[in-house]
Amino acid sequence: MRILIFTGKGGVGKTSVAAATAVKAASQGYKTLIMSTDPAHSLADSFDREDFLGPEPKEIAPNLDALEIDIYADLRQNWENVRVHFASLLNSQGVNGVVADEIAVLPGMDELFSLVRIKRYYKSQAYDLLIVDCAPTGETLRLLSLPETLSWGIKLFRNAEKFLVKPVLRPLSKVTPLSKMVAPEDVYVSIDSMFGELDGLSAILGDTKVTSVRLVMNPEKMVIKESQRALTYLGMYGMMVDTVVVNRILPVDKDTGYMNRWKSIQQKHLHEIADSFNPLPIRHVPFYPQEVVGLELLKQMADDIYGVEDATKFMFTERPYEIRKVGAGYEVRMRLPFANEDTLDLWHKGDELIVQVGNQRRIVTLPTAVAGMETGQADFDGQWLIIPFTTSGKTASVAGAH
Ligand SMILES: Nc1ncnc2c1ncn2[C@@H]1O[C@H](COP(=O)(O)OP(=O)(O)O)[C@@H](O)[C@H]1O
Ligand SMILES: [Mg+2]
Repeated sequence: MRILIFTGKGGVGKTSVAAATAVKAASQGYKTLIMSTDPAHSLADSFDREDFLGPEPKEIAPNLDALEIDIYADLRQNWENVRVHFASLLNSQGVNGVVADEIAVLPGMDELFSLVRIKRYYKSQAYDLLIVDCAPTGETLRLLSLPETLSWGIKLFRNAEKFLVKPVLRPLSKVTPLSKMVAPEDVYVSIDSMFGELDGLSAILGDTKVTSVRLVMNPEKMVIKESQRALTYLGMYGMMVDTVVVNRILPVDKDTGYMNRWKSIQQKHLHEIADSFNPLPIRHVPFYPQEVVGLELLKQMADDIYGVEDATKFMFTERPYEIRKVGAGYEVRMRLPFANEDTLDLWHKGDELIVQVGNQRRIVTLPTAVAGMETGQADFDGQWLIIPFTTSGKTASVAGAH
């Protein structure tokens, strides 16, 4: 099964582009399931089937099923006993009832259940293609780092419990009746089954023969910046972006009245997008004169994005750059097949690293941990440019460059 994940800042057109892709792939003969994990669902609106979508797959068109996860229902079903236990634990430590209830749902728990669904459908192999319409970028990224974060949290809870029930560690057990501290067995069963279900998910999402991410954006400054950051972090989490979809582009050859000024702004940003996401393929989608709702308009959008191409194809199979930890520092690596030391220039300022090769430019948004470091001597290893980052280094320079 193939997995396509659509993400981007809120409102850029993720759901529309994901739904359009689903319509296209289904018409190309792939048995497709599209699933929305964004708590702000709009898949049903996009298909114009308001009263129709629920947490189980429903047929929208031949070859095309859709569902919207009800994260709260999933949470109640799978996690209620755990939540009750944690709440009483917090309560016994003096946290008041309502607050205890609220914080007993661990951060990210809701999103975790979406992840479980991805794995479930992947394992069932009932579909050729799973399209995931994800929450806005920030949420999605948090979601991807979730399994590790959570297993750490759960370990902490387990250890804390062991800690608390030991009579030697009297200060807390004095305040709290011991019976309240020990979790009933079913709590552990729920926790363990959850982690059992999540096991192997990172491998599926990081499998570059199965999963790729498509970043949806608009030609607007803030949106571009957030998408650049998303590209960096997705790479760090082991995911591969294979296409950039730039949505809502005003037509340059038509008079758009007072939006005319917007057109030149957009054109400027389109150049920046080309630099920032080079060498990823970039697809342009026009600003339509109406909302993209219903199968007909989605099909139109899909034609504008993919034409006659296979929508499920891996449009690109390499990460534009990689950021690796090396000792106490980091290393940014990018493959520049046609570059040599003489045609190359580097700048690093704040979280931006700019690499210029002839008249081509690459912009890398550095993760926070790396942004504060200094660049050392950049060097080529075959086709790969390697730029080291250390806490105390020299300013950006290229070996052998003038
Ligand atoms: N290219 C476009 N032209 C016109 N309207 C669009 C376009 N792309 C999206 N829309 C409309 O913009 C709104 C938000 O799009 P949506 O796909 O729900 O964004 P997101 O999922 O990123 O929040 C919807 O009403 C959608 O129909
Ligand atoms: Mg949406």
